[in-house]
Amino acid sequence: MTPEMFAQGAKRLQDYQQRLANESVTESGGRAASYGRLHDAGALDLTHGRILYLEDVHVSFDGFKAINGLSLDIAPGELRCIIGPNGAGKTTMMDIITGKTRPDRGQVYFGSTIDLRRHNEPEIAQLGIGRKFQKPTVFEHLTVYENLELALKTHKGVLASMRFRIDGASADRLSEVLATIHLREAVTRLAGELSHGQKQWLEIGMLLMQDPKLLLLDEPVAGMTDHETERTAELFLRLKGQHSLMVVEHDMAFIAAIAETVTVLSEGRVLAEGTLAQVQSDERVIEVYLGR
Ligand SMILES: Nc1ncnc2c1ncn2[C@@H]1O[C@H](COP(=O)(O)OP(=O)(O)O)[C@@H](O)[C@H]1O
Ligand SMILES: [Mg+2]
Repeated sequence: MTPEMFAQGAKRLQDYQQRLANESVTESGGRAASYGRLHDAGALDLTHGRILYLEDVHVSFDGFKAINGLSLDIAPGELRCIIGPNGAGKTTMMDIITGKTRPDRGQVYFGSTIDLRRHNEPEIAQLGIGRKFQKPTVFEHLTVYENLELALKTHKGVLASMRFRIDGASADRLSEVLATIHLREAVTRLAGELSHGQKQWLEIGMLLMQDPKLLLLDEPVAGMTDHETERTAELFLRLKGQHSLMVVEHDMAFIAAIAETVTVLSEGRVLAEGTLAQVQSDERVIEVYLGR
C-alpha cells in the first residue's frame, strides 16, 4: 500500500458515500434495474432444466472410495441442502464440481453442454460457479468496501484489473450486495474488526460481486450465533431463484429454515433425497446418523 493508493482509496470511498447518499433520495428502480450483468460467462444451456448434473461419479484416494457412484442434479434457481455424516464425501463433491479434484470416472456437467471435467479451477469460477469454504477468507486489513471491490477486480483477471475503474453498473451492484449481506452500515470498517458471522457474509458478498449462477456453500453457519444463523437463512432464501445454491450444513435448525429438497450423502453416494421430514423419517438415514 502506497500513499497514492490510500489517497485513491479515500477518493473512491468518498465517491461511493456520495453515491449512497444520492441513492437514498431517488428510487433506484428496483433489483432488475440495478443488477447490471458484469460479464457474460457464455451461454449456459438450461434447456434440460438442470444447472448441475452429476452422474455415476467416482473418486478414490489411495484405494479409498471417497465418492462412489454419486449421481445428483440441481435445477436452475434451486436451493439444495446436502447433509450427511462426517466423511460422507460432501466436501469432496464440491472439490469435484469446482475442478479441485478430478473424478476417476463419471459425468459432471454445468448446464447441458459444459463438461466441467475439461476445465480448471479458475475457468470454472469464470463460468459462474462460486464456492464458499468453511473458514472466512476475507482481507482483514481492507475495508468491507475494498474487499467487495477487490472481488470484482480479481474476477476480471490481472491485466483487466490493472485498467479497472469501478463503473456505474459495478457501483450499483456493490451497493445492492452490501444491502443483501447486511453490511451497509459497516462499509468503512476493516474486515478484521467484523464478527465471525459478518466475515462470512462479506465473503458471500465477494462471491456475489462475481454474479455466480451456482453457489456452493460448505458449512456456512458453523460458528455463527443463533441470530447470525437466522439472518443467513433469510439471506439464502433471498438469493435462491436468482442463483442456484448448494448448501452443505450440519445445523438442522438452519436446514429446517431453508430446506426444499434435502439430499443425504453417505459413503460417497446419495442415500436419500426428499423433503426434510421425508429424509428424517427414512430408516437408512436414521441408521447412518445413529451409527451401526
Ligand atoms: N485429498 C484427500 N486425500 C485422501 N483422502 C481424502 C482426501 N479428501 C477427502 N478424503 C477422504 O474422503 C472422505 C470424504 O471426505 P469429505 O469429502 O471431506 O467428507 P465430508 O465433507 O462429507 O465430511 C473422508 O474419509 C476423507 O478422509
Ligand atoms: Mg466437509
